[in-house]
Amino acid sequence: MFDRLMKVTFFVCGFAALATALSFAQEPAKLLVAETSVSPVSPMLYGLMTEEINFSYDGGLYAEMVRNRTFHQHWPHFEFWTVVAHGSAEAAMGEGATGPSKALPKSLKLTITGAAPGNEAGIGNPGYWGMAVRPSSSYTGSFYASTDAANRVHARLIADDTGATVAEATVDLPQSDWTRYSYTMRTGREIKASSANHLEITFEQPSTIYLQLASLFPSTYNDRTNGNRADLMKMMAEMRPHFLRLPGGNYLEGDYINERFQWKQTIGPLVDRPTHRSPWNYQSSDGMGLLEFLEWCEDLKIEPVLAVYAGYSLRGDHVNPGKDLEPYVQEALEEIEYVTGDATTTWGAERAKDGHQAPFPLRYIEIGNEDWFDKSKSYDGRFEQFAKAIRAKYPQYKLIATTPVKTSSPDVVDDHYYLTPDEFFAQNRKYDAMDRNGPKIFIGEWATRTGSPTPDFGAALGDASWMTSMERNSDLIVMASYAPLLTNVNPGGMQWATDLIGYDALRSYGSPSYWAQVLFAQHIGDHTVKTAVTGANPLLFWSATVSSGDKVLHLKLVNASAKSQPLSVDITGVKAGAATMYSLHAATRYATNSITDPDRIRPVTTTVSVAGDSWKHEVPGNTIQVIDIPLK
Ligand code: AHR
Repeated sequence: MFDRLMKVTFFVCGFAALATALSFAQEPAKLLVAETSVSPVSPMLYGLMTEEINFSYDGGLYAEMVRNRTFHQHWPHFEFWTVVAHGSAEAAMGEGATGPSKALPKSLKLTITGAAPGNEAGIGNPGYWGMAVRPSSSYTGSFYASTDAANRVHARLIADDTGATVAEATVDLPQSDWTRYSYTMRTGREIKASSANHLEITFEQPSTIYLQLASLFPSTYNDRTNGNRADLMKMMAEMRPHFLRLPGGNYLEGDYINERFQWKQTIGPLVDRPTHRSPWNYQSSDGMGLLEFLEWCEDLKIEPVLAVYAGYSLRGDHVNPGKDLEPYVQEALEEIEYVTGDATTTWGAERAKDGHQAPFPLRYIEIGNEDWFDKSKSYDGRFEQFAKAIRAKYPQYKLIATTPVKTSSPDVVDDHYYLTPDEFFAQNRKYDAMDRNGPKIFIGEWATRTGSPTPDFGAALGDASWMTSMERNSDLIVMASYAPLLTNVNPGGMQWATDLIGYDALRSYGSPSYWAQVLFAQHIGDHTVKTAVTGANPLLFWSATVSSGDKVLHLKLVNASAKSQPLSVDITGVKAGAATMYSLHAATRYATNSITDPDRIRPVTTTVSVAGDSWKHEVPGNTIQVIDIPLK
């Protein structure tokens, strides 16, 4: 329902018709690049935006292997859990009216009426479309239990197809009230990496056992406890991001006010997190809580762009500015203190208690998300109230509004674009002529939406054309983040088509759009230089930036037409010799990468000979080129 296009005026149809009607130039087009600096490139331009959508965290980045570990998904159906009874064992599961904490007051009650060593009974979990198991690897499990008799527990990772145990551990359980137990299991060298595995937790003796928070983790990026999948973190690092916009998106707002991202319920021990329903229709474990978001930033050496809930939820509930809004403003002020306060502040001390003594860096705070949807028109008043309170306490931070406001002046306004390739081509010049005296622009969500689950090459062309526009205008556009970033590609895993990176439990891959972003972000200068193109086909897009320190010109050329574009290039100050060129090309716009064919479209590195200031060049059809040209 939110799959809507941006509130921009299109002149797409006319433009597309013009593009196809024109016969492309046979003569080389002229590309002039002057040394004259035009404007600075924002050092924060490229960043990340994610939320709990498409199983981005649970079943994605957040490395937890157990699905529905707190049994809260559609309570009391114990979704994804089954009774396991080996041999003559017998057991049943039902609702447990007791739990290990105030946040988790209920549990799974396992009644074992028959069991013995070798004939154990217990429960099984299939993970998020399987559990990835690799050779010579360790897995750390834990669970809370309350038992009426001593027991011996077996935790096993079992291959779905053969029933073979690929890793196991035992835990001795005394008779006791709620207690946390943990174990480690290790796979042998001989096993094959596979996601066709499940977890069984079984017991040797008949008894009644209450279970809660059954968790299992592989090793994680930077070996963080409760951490992230290494492959996905590495893919994000390749994108050279500068920030993470967190925690969403719609996920910040929730469908209803009580389903918003309540940051206080996402911090501290996992057993104190009640979990909540995401607006994307599944239960969030909240294992990816506020501190985990911040540590993810720390691991990638990027800064958080903190979005605070601003009194509007997706189904239309809103809080009136004034007295009613005060608790939400207070909630935001405390959240900022949790992120930035030192350990002498109330919430800074709470963060230190949660394991992170040092405050996190912060410069940008976003008030709400997509408040142009708010039919009550309360955003002006809500923004003003938040801005006044935040600026009074934290004058150093830049405030982002999610739609233009009249009553107060935001430092930045967040514009979102979800368009087709043709629509992005038509928008390419939009910001070139825009007034530079208003607030700066944050393009907090953008994507060319063709291809599913991940973008096809047509989308990569749309994205690359848009990036040339953002780079040319990055004196105005200070930050940009593609959305959504992640999707689990299993059936039922995706709620929003066209996501930059796809994965299952074991594998991950970058879409053509991902590789376009990697190329653009890895080769960007600190200022733009003057460019002019004449005689080119209307689907040629470009930007030129210079890295002053390295003396390199980064020339980006996007030929979104199917025909080759010859160019006669004139660039002043070039060092004659070899320049490195990175190309992304596909035969058609429909070509793409997938989980089973992840490398079909990848950047190819070659060199081009640059014969001084003037030289000939050709950009094949359906091609994105990034050329690093050494300067004198
Ligand atoms: O990126 C998907 C959704 O699109 C975001 O949650 C929301 O902000 C936008 O409507």
